[in-house]
Amino acid sequence: MTIAFRVSAAAPATTRTDLLAVPVFAGRALGPGAEVVDDALGGALGAFLAEAGFEGKVGDAVLVPAGEDLAARSVLVLGLGERSALTLETLRRAGALLAQRATRVTNAATTLLDAIPDSMDRTDAAQAIAEGVVLGGYQFLDYTSKRKASKLARVTLLGGGGAGVGRAAGRGVLIAEATCWARDIINTPSNDKAPEVFAKAAQSFLRGRGVRVQVLGPEEIRRARMGGVLGVAQGSARRPRFVKVTYTPTGARGPALALVGKGVVFDTGGISIKPAAGMETMKTDMSGAAAVLATMAVLKDLGVKQRVVAYAPLVENMPSGTAIRPGDVLKHRNGVTTEVLNTDAEGRLILADALALAVDDGAGAIVDVATLTGACMVALGDRIAGLMGNDEGWRDTVRAAADRVGESVWPLPLPEEYRPLLESEVADLRNISTGGYGGALTAGLFLEAFVDGVPWVHLDIAGPSRAATGYGYMPKGGTGFATRTLIELARTYTPPRRTKG
Ligand code: BES
Ligand code: MN
Ligand code: ZN
Repeated sequence: MTIAFRVSAAAPATTRTDLLAVPVFAGRALGPGAEVVDDALGGALGAFLAEAGFEGKVGDAVLVPAGEDLAARSVLVLGLGERSALTLETLRRAGALLAQRATRVTNAATTLLDAIPDSMDRTDAAQAIAEGVVLGGYQFLDYTSKRKASKLARVTLLGGGGAGVGRAAGRGVLIAEATCWARDIINTPSNDKAPEVFAKAAQSFLRGRGVRVQVLGPEEIRRARMGGVLGVAQGSARRPRFVKVTYTPTGARGPALALVGKGVVFDTGGISIKPAAGMETMKTDMSGAAAVLATMAVLKDLGVKQRVVAYAPLVENMPSGTAIRPGDVLKHRNGVTTEVLNTDAEGRLILADALALAVDDGAGAIVDVATLTGACMVALGDRIAGLMGNDEGWRDTVRAAADRVGESVWPLPLPEEYRPLLESEVADLRNISTGGYGGALTAGLFLEAFVDGVPWVHLDIAGPSRAATGYGYMPKGGTGFATRTLIELARTYTPPRRTKG
């Protein structure tokens, strides 16, 4: 259900609401609104919090009685940590806790906006709170009759601030809901997301959003010479699709930002089949495609001024009598050939064609997002994405966007000296490196062969695309990671000046 935000200048003590959420800083220093709660409890709040083990750390939350003098029916105290360390990320996490503790009420109000330092923009803060509430309150209930849907429907931001603050909260809801669409399709079991079905879901989600959606079928994919997409897809009875989404605002200048997402709707590994244990998690191997498609839904509403194009190859990687074999050679769109030595290194094979198409379309800069390697998780764990690329300025730009929205990415190198590990005796490239180390880097080096020098960043989201257990505003399961980074990037993208052609 969508949560509506409004802004009010009413006093916390007299605000009629099911639940009033007030901040408390580290060391149980009462934040705005918490003093009136303390008054209503006859000065007992501090002792109550201490008794409950509440210290005021980020992530601490405790329900306290409202007392007789408050118009609110209950009170939630949210820890914000050190006052001087408060960031937008703190607000997102506080918003998430609010949503997670308010599932049995329909209305909540919060004084969180009044807890921010003078240096913080009030509209940025409102957006972050709204994002946190919507992202943190996310539930995936499509396939269960056991769990109940949250009742939370309205959140009031107290402290006022006018229309600008209300609009900012609306932007937060928009961005978070797009991320939740990505989560939904990621969490959908693969029996219900054949490439054709995923493509249709994207089409209907993007209808009326000011973008053009093209869905290529197998024959069109063949005519586009995408041998990697066809090769990976050929083991599955469920035929591939290639979704291209174009956003062209009036007055746009310069080459487009291209967003490329890996869309493997299920990755068995193919003939190089994966072990059974944990294979079910490979239903989320289309998280990159989900993120780029979700991004396209909000560009018009956010007033993005530049051209953005998304490319999502959608395939299923299955072993069968028609599947590609180790040793087979595929020819990609740009004429480069690949010897497939492991059919489980399939993501790079479909991304190769998509990257080559983005280059042919004249992209000014490219970002690809892919659940590409287990090796990236070995390097960075499961909450941080690997960031690689061929252009320092563009890498910095993408990294800065990720930092602003609270998505953790960390740079990894594309070492020239590892390039020989991808040399094949029979084709231009091999799809796995000789020798087992540095798998995230050699995957990145493989992709680089298809971007023809266009500024390009590769985000390996194998880790943060899914959460084994929930944390902060990330739910267990599909997280929608990278969606918010890409939206932020589109919002701030300025096309490079053409240097050639
Ligand atoms: N989809 C996987 C990568 C992956 C693994 C994502 C674990 C999320 C969690 C990818 O297609 C894959 O299988 N990669 C192989 C590459 C190897 C064969 C070179 C891997 O990482 O083992
Ligand atoms: Mn694989
Ligand atoms: Zn995969």
